[in-house]
Amino acid sequence: MTPVERATRLFRERFGTEPAAVASAPGRVNLLGEHVDYHGGHVLPVATAWRTAVAVGLAPGGFEAASEHGTPVRGAWPPARQGDWSDYAAGVAVEFLAAGTLRAAGLRLAVASDVPLGAGVSSSAALEVATAGALAALCGWRGSPRELAVIAHRAETDFVGVPCGVMDQMASALTPAGSALLLDCRTLETSAVPVPLDLVLAESGESHTLRSGSYAERRREGDEALARIRAAVPAVAMLVDIPPAALAQLLPLLPPPLDRRVRHVVNENQRTVLAAAALEAGDVATFGRLVDASHDSLRDLYECSTPRLDAIVTAARRLPGTLGARLVGAGWGGAVLVVAPMGRGEELAAALAADRALALPAVRVVHPGAGLAG
Ligand code: GLA
Repeated sequence: MTPVERATRLFRERFGTEPAAVASAPGRVNLLGEHVDYHGGHVLPVATAWRTAVAVGLAPGGFEAASEHGTPVRGAWPPARQGDWSDYAAGVAVEFLAAGTLRAAGLRLAVASDVPLGAGVSSSAALEVATAGALAALCGWRGSPRELAVIAHRAETDFVGVPCGVMDQMASALTPAGSALLLDCRTLETSAVPVPLDLVLAESGESHTLRSGSYAERRREGDEALARIRAAVPAVAMLVDIPPAALAQLLPLLPPPLDRRVRHVVNENQRTVLAAAALEAGDVATFGRLVDASHDSLRDLYECSTPRLDAIVTAARRLPGTLGARLVGAGWGGAVLVVAPMGRGEELAAALAADRALALPAVRVVHPGAGLAG
């Protein structure tokens, strides 16, 4: 059964009635452009074929949420933050209420998902975007996928309280089937890019608990670096406005580690644009070299890798067929992305999974999927 069928069935079983609407949205794997989205840079995610479906219906009162994976939740209406999985859906409902789009005395929802948890594929964005799609259908609101992504993103930053950039929700809402999405995070302009590659995701098994604090710290460092640069060069509105050629002149204005952080952001943004061009041209070797350079920069300049992620990357790069390997997502644990020529992914995944020294909890071939569907 598909997630949509399972969410519909779960809704029926749990609440004894048919859902009024159901929508599904995918996870994402970012091919290139890490830690640049909140600086207005370019990112290049693919949507995964794994999807999360959310079935919704009005309730006489309260907020009730059921999931295949998490414990059922019953709470007040409007929902308040509970500190569990349901916050990602509740936050979206709160956004719809605040906008006046949703007028209800209560809400029920049921969630079914194929998106692996903790594998660095943003199961949270999939849940938020699917909830936004289902609520839009419930309310008869014809918001664009871009508007739904913005709502989903606000749910995560304002309700859940994670200061993330906009990449994950945009990827989950907008990615065209089978393509990567080149997204300019400043203008939210997008274009589709072909993916003539096999993608393998190796889960490190390292917990993400340190993540949110370190992520927020990097954001503060970026803000401070920008303020210092703007004091000297007011024309720089965002870090990605700095041309790579101007780095040598501007970096002496910054104390360490801010200089390293800015070098990463400026060069990673440029790498992403070059990587999209390489994929357009079918030049997968150049693409792979950019993937490798991204990891080295995340490790040495952004300092968001771990010894275990580095070990996985090193092992993956030694395997025949690997074009490039890097940590993917925020870092400090999570997963490693390995890119391979088409047709080589299964073999690479098997070789990595067989590496006893690494003892990886899961190695998966990622099949590109499509964004939000109603
Ligand atoms: C997390 C955030 C994204 C992005 C990445 C790093 O996945 O949710 O917004 O900042 O980290 O590229």
